[in-house]
Amino acid sequence: MPLRMRTPADYQEQYARSISDPEGFWSDMALHFFWRKPHHTTLEWNFEKPSIKWYQGAQLNISENCLDRHLKDKSDQTAILWVPNDPGEDSVSISYAELHQRVCTCASALIDLGIGKGDRVVLYMPMVPELAVAVLACARIGAIHSVVFAGFSAQALADRVDDAQASMIICSDYSRRGAKIIPIKAVVDDAMELSCDSVQHVIVHAHTGGDISWHDHDHRWSELMQRASRTCEATVMESEDPLFILYTSGSTGKPKGVVHSTAGYMVYAAYSFTNVFQYDPGDIYWCTADIGWITGHTYIIYGPLLAGATTMMYEGVPTYPDAGRFWQICEQHRVSQFYTAPTAIRALMVHGHHFPEQYDLSALKVIGTVGEPINEEAWHWYNQYIGRHRAPIVDTWWQTETGGIMITSLPGITDTKPTYAAYPLPGIRPVLVSPEGDLIEENEKEGLLCIDYPWPSMIRTTYGDHERCRQTYFSAFSGKYFTGDGARRDADGRIRVIGRVDDVINVSGHRLGTAEIENAINEQSSVIESAVVAYPHDIKGQGICAFVICDIDRPDLSSDVCLTVRKIIGPVATPDRIYIVSSLPKTRSGKIMRRILRKIACGESDGIGDTSTLLNPECVDLIIRQVEKEDMQ
Ligand code: WT7
Repeated sequence: MPLRMRTPADYQEQYARSISDPEGFWSDMALHFFWRKPHHTTLEWNFEKPSIKWYQGAQLNISENCLDRHLKDKSDQTAILWVPNDPGEDSVSISYAELHQRVCTCASALIDLGIGKGDRVVLYMPMVPELAVAVLACARIGAIHSVVFAGFSAQALADRVDDAQASMIICSDYSRRGAKIIPIKAVVDDAMELSCDSVQHVIVHAHTGGDISWHDHDHRWSELMQRASRTCEATVMESEDPLFILYTSGSTGKPKGVVHSTAGYMVYAAYSFTNVFQYDPGDIYWCTADIGWITGHTYIIYGPLLAGATTMMYEGVPTYPDAGRFWQICEQHRVSQFYTAPTAIRALMVHGHHFPEQYDLSALKVIGTVGEPINEEAWHWYNQYIGRHRAPIVDTWWQTETGGIMITSLPGITDTKPTYAAYPLPGIRPVLVSPEGDLIEENEKEGLLCIDYPWPSMIRTTYGDHERCRQTYFSAFSGKYFTGDGARRDADGRIRVIGRVDDVINVSGHRLGTAEIENAINEQSSVIESAVVAYPHDIKGQGICAFVICDIDRPDLSSDVCLTVRKIIGPVATPDRIYIVSSLPKTRSGKIMRRILRKIACGESDGIGDTSTLLNPECVDLIIRQVEKEDMQ
């Protein structure tokens, strides 16, 4: 069976096969890769534990599949096309041969510093080619990479390094984002001061060459690469060996390390990339995500390179030097597949369609979105001004935990409908259930989105805490993976994902836990208690609204709270609105009633309903009045 579907009939046929014979289906998909040893058992699973094992008996290395495998036919083809932040600066093409060489050299350098199979390496870097090289170098020697988004604070970085017990951090000196130069190494220095006791070495890549302070544990990237061997045999991995950890937020305060394994992730990354983007030789594919998120892992690095594609990596921001930058890059490089987030579309939409109209976007064949529900208005704008009614939109639903795209239209194969992610990929079995766990079989109904059967790239565990993985994803509904999302199925079976039903909020496509933000706010001296809820935000999708009780009244408290949150988590978690209140609505058992606060933050105070069961019903009116007063100012 080919990896790629091309027609509606292919989709029907493959979907049917994936249901009637899932193991045969996924066993066939594995034939499209290079294995040191083939698998003997396609799947063994138990969602109660959970224990999920794909392709047992197989041995492989994913970097060989991304690189070595293509050297015969594609050594001169561009693997990574890097577009720098500044429009005046030239882009850089890295061929498969060169990328292979750079990955081998970096892998040798890591070995020289004592890194080996199973060791954790944290990468804290901007969008530079060295980040992709470092990711693949870890994979080559079996070290488990954990990329931390370079917008996180020193404390957030240190928390992740400590949880992973990483023995190394690889970072850059500075990052460039639009007109700003942001210190990166200094954040690592601060993290090392805070904790990070497991870290023995820090490798520093000089990106801007700006001044940095230096410690005994620091090594220069360029010096290490000069000294290291240019060849590096790939370490043979077992199918279920962990490939990477990626931290993501949940409903409790502490981010969890989602663990992905090698063989299943590889098969699904390539399979989903090939089908969703319908990549053809010669195409230039561009995903605008940051490699610090799962989208960057699967659809900038692994998926495209496994498929032998040319993947573009852009260092900068959508609005620099102006709101036409994305479209200028699409024109200049004749981008064929473009994949971005609804928040970016909304942010650019505000600047007007004369920006995209200035550029030739005729090379675009597929345009995609990911990360949050796309509103109707943004969908139509994207369709009209970017896709120009010619390049279909793929609204792709998935999660850090799913490893790859689960629900989406397939361009030119299945239909599209605004705001609907639509159809599951073959091999994926989404179901809707009621809060009581009953299966919702009729269409035109809403429910909680679960997945009924394993797929190769699913989460295997949460690092260091398997019980948390079981609790979070496998305990709500027996025998199902629970996504945390609510969804609706239309009359024809298309799925629309509405959003989270837990205490997770999605700000500009960044996933944050309300508890995590509250913990950060509570670190601010003079804060006694806080409650964070989301409200609809025109550009970010959701905004962060914090209700805070403090022991003294000072005028600058809100800005101090913002600073504290930036310090503890990072700028993405900064509250958009802060209300200093004298009490929070609580149940008799002392639990904060966030439902009420959510109504107030969303401007729906009229719909709050009965508050008589609260411990302190009188506070609700006080809060409403205060919010109205402050919003007037
Ligand atoms: C959550 C996962 C998957 C990579 C980026 C985000 C929301 C994601 C869609 C979509 C509606 C979406 C869900 C999901 N989400 N894609 N196409 N339509 N909602 O990964 O940080 O793990 O967040 O993002 O709520 O659970 P993540």
